[in-house]
Order: sequence, then C-alpha cells, then structure tokens
Amino acid sequence: MGEVSRGILPVIAIDRESSEPLHRQVYAGFRDAILRGDLRAGQQVPSSRTLAAELAISRFPVLDAYSQLHAEGFFRSRVGAGTFVAASFPAATGEAKASARDSGARRSVSRRAGRYPAFRAVPWRHGWGAFGVHQPALDQFPFEIWSRLTARHSRSPRAHALHRIDPMGLEPFREAICTYLRASRAVRCEPSQIMVVSGSQQALDIATRVLLDEGDAAWVEEPCYPLARAILTGAGCRSVPVPVDDAGLDVAAGIRLGVDARAAFVTPSHHYALGVTMSASRRFQLLEWARRAGAWIVEDDYDSEYRYESMPIPSLQGLDGEQRVIYIGTFSKVLFPSLRLGYMVIPPDLMERFLSVRFAMDIFPSYLYQEVLTDFMKAGHFARHIRRMRNLYKARRTALVENLRAEFGEELEIHGAEAGMHLTVTLPQGCRDTEICTRAAAEHLWLWPLSPCYAESPARQGLILGFANTPEEQMREAVKRLKTVVGRQ
Ligand SMILES: Cc1ncc(COP(=O)(O)O)c(C=O)c1O
Repeated sequence: MGEVSRGILPVIAIDRESSEPLHRQVYAGFRDAILRGDLRAGQQVPSSRTLAAELAISRFPVLDAYSQLHAEGFFRSRVGAGTFVAASFPAATGEAKASARDSGARRSVSRRAGRYPAFRAVPWRHGWGAFGVHQPALDQFPFEIWSRLTARHSRSPRAHALHRIDPMGLEPFREAICTYLRASRAVRCEPSQIMVVSGSQQALDIATRVLLDEGDAAWVEEPCYPLARAILTGAGCRSVPVPVDDAGLDVAAGIRLGVDARAAFVTPSHHYALGVTMSASRRFQLLEWARRAGAWIVEDDYDSEYRYESMPIPSLQGLDGEQRVIYIGTFSKVLFPSLRLGYMVIPPDLMERFLSVRFAMDIFPSYLYQEVLTDFMKAGHFARHIRRMRNLYKARRTALVENLRAEFGEELEIHGAEAGMHLTVTLPQGCRDTEICTRAAAEHLWLWPLSPCYAESPARQGLILGFANTPEEQMREAVKRLKTVVGRQ
C-alpha cells in the first residue's frame, strides 16, 4: 500500500477510569488495529504530538507507547518523514475472516443484490487511449478555464453552496441546463422539472425506482447498454429485449413480445451500440403505444451533441404531447466521465415521487462542480467546446472509417458512424469479440465487445470502437495494430 493516507488517526479508546495505564491503552490500540488489518504496512501514523492533542492526554504516555511499538517491530521511522506501520499481518486478518465464515453464524445478504450481474474487471475497461470507448479528447479540454472557475468557487464559495440541501440541484445550474436543452435538443422543459443527478446511470436507476415495481415488465433495446439492463434486473423487473432494426426499436415487435410492459428504455438519437437513429414514424408509434398502454418512456440521450452529417436530431421528449417521456442527459461525454454530473427532465405530475426517491439516495451531487459548470455554460465555454469537439471528432471519425475500409475491406460491417464518439463494426462468423478485446487490451487498444450488449443468444459479435480520443494522425497505425490483433485468431 502506498503512503497515501498520511497520519490517519486510528480509533483508540482511552478510558481514564481504567486501572490500565494510558501508555498501555495507546499501545494496545495500535497493536490491535494492526493485527486486525485496519492499519497496513506503509501507512503513516500521527506524530506523538498530534495524537496526544487528539486524545487530550500528555505526550509522555504516547511516546512510551510508540517506543514499545518500535521495539516490537510494529512501527518503523524514517528520518524527516515520520512514523509508519512496519508490516501487515495477513495471517491474522485471514484468520479473522476464516473464523467469521466458519463460525456458523448466518451471513446472508439480500436476494436483490444477487440479481445484479457480477462485476467483472474486464481488461478492456482499464486503459486510456486508442479506441477507448466513451473517452473524450481530454488533451483538448479547456482545463485552464475550468481550473480558474474551480479555484474561484473553492476560494470564495457562495454561502448557499456550503449549506443548502436541495435534491433538485443548484438552481442557476438547472436554468443553464434548461436553456441548453430547449435550444439544442428541442426538449420541452422548465427549470423546475430538471433534476441534477450523478450521471445518466443514476438517472436510469432513479427512473426505475419511481416508475416500476418488482415483477413489472419493461422494453429494453436488443442490443442495449448493458448497465441499463442491469438496473432493471437488480430491481426485480422483467426486461423484455425488443429488436432494433435500421429504424430503431421495433415497436410492433415490442407489443408482441411484451404487451404488458410498463416502460420502454430507449436511446433514440443514437442507439447504443449500433448507432441507429430512431425514425420519425417509429417515434410516433412508440409515443402512441405509451399513451394507449399507460406506459412510460425513458429516453437516454447520452451523446447526441455530436452529429456529423446532419443537424442534431430533436429529442423524443419534444414530440411528446402526453408528458410520458422521462428525458435523461449527461456531461460524461461532452466534458469527462468522472465528473459524474447528469440531469433528468421529469413530467411535473411525477415530480413529488422523483423527489422522495432522490432525497433518500445521495440527495444531490457535490455543489462545487455544479457551480463551476454553471459559469462554464453561462460564459459560452460549453457551447464553444462542443463546437470544437464536433469538428475534431468528425475528422477522427472519418479517419477511422477510411482506415477500417482500407485495412479490412468488406470483412467488417460499419454501423453508426454518423454520430457520437464511437462506431461499431460487426465481425464475420466464428470471431469471438471478447477474446479479440482481451488481446487488444494487452496491446493497449481499448475497444469493447458488442456481444455483452445482447440479452439473448446467439449474440452478434462485434467491436465498439471509440474514436474521440485517438488523434487523426495516429489512426492509421492504430487500425493496423487492430488488424493484426483481429487476424490472430
Ligand atoms: C447509453 C448509455 N447510457 C448511460 C450511460 C451512463 O453514463 P454516465 O452515468 O456516465 O452519465 C452510458 C455510459 O457510457 C451509456 O453509454
């Protein structure tokens, strides 16, 4: 473990009434924490002065205890750096875990937790660079402006930013989002309908909690964004995979397959992962179905800022006269994913329920970045950044398509290159996309497999290729390396 958590104060209970001398109590507190594994090798312990002040005791017993812990090899000192835990005691920690398991006492957890797909540390999610999916061009991000705004809000925060609790989020931020959504996405909204959330993943979760009960059916695109399905499965809902063709979700098939569905989860502007745009007639069919069935539509508009061959496609929400669409957007793609800021536009009559659920979760995301982003948007930096990135990504996208054609010819079919930050290629029969992506990750190529996006088998095999984070001049070489990886079956 690195020496990152400097001088953390462990919990040491001092009992002034005890007959045990203070230095023995301090000694035992540290020794037990190390043996339990709560303190590990390399962690810095507080100076004797800091600890004495913290425990409100004289420094002498602390010095005695530290000297004993040194003598027994629990502590070591480095001149000028401080005092550190000398060793971990995995045997002791392991024993504790084993005895907890073997004790016969029940350690059962919820069935609900077991419904979520297992978290797997897949190799393709762990790198940054060529073909990285959902990775924006961070070297082009105006960090100078961003850090100036962050510094300003950190230095002199507005009082409300420090104490205000509003599960809807910061009001000026919601106004800025509202202005943007009306103009750029043709969303019909008022600031009072906008709830700030920690990314669209959380928005999907909140929508599911509000709209669906255990056992309810919901349409999910086939293929779909796997973590959207994970939320429904975790909530005990039945997700009904509805095929997607060249016009988007096949509404007639949805009615056939899941007539009782209470909601549809869709990515109409840019389907994940095949990139299809839902046609106007399918949009009206979907809205009509929702109206007749008394169902809800959850529109995940995750990356529609970037369209390369036409004007941005207006949102489905904007066509809805019945207020049956919950619209979701995110700053993960246009800014950067670890920002964890997104928003939802909620029909006014559902507001109260969304608020109760939100309040019982994490209440609201950190105000600091809401403040920063408000200024970033109001000063025009946001719109400028999107415009710049649209041109840059268009060039990168074109370079990727050209190089894929040159290297692979007809071997690969390209889907969804008109928009967003990734395109998808489908592979010939016999290829295994997860194996290709595992090999590619070993070569520092960070593409993702298509097959996990399918609920039903046989899943189509394909590769999701991010292009936003791969400079144009590096695309040729990256595609050549990809060709070698794909060829090594
Ligand atoms: C279709 C889709 N929906 C939702 C998300 C979640 O995004 P975030 O939670 O970062 O906003 C992603 C992430 O990449 C996505 O591709």
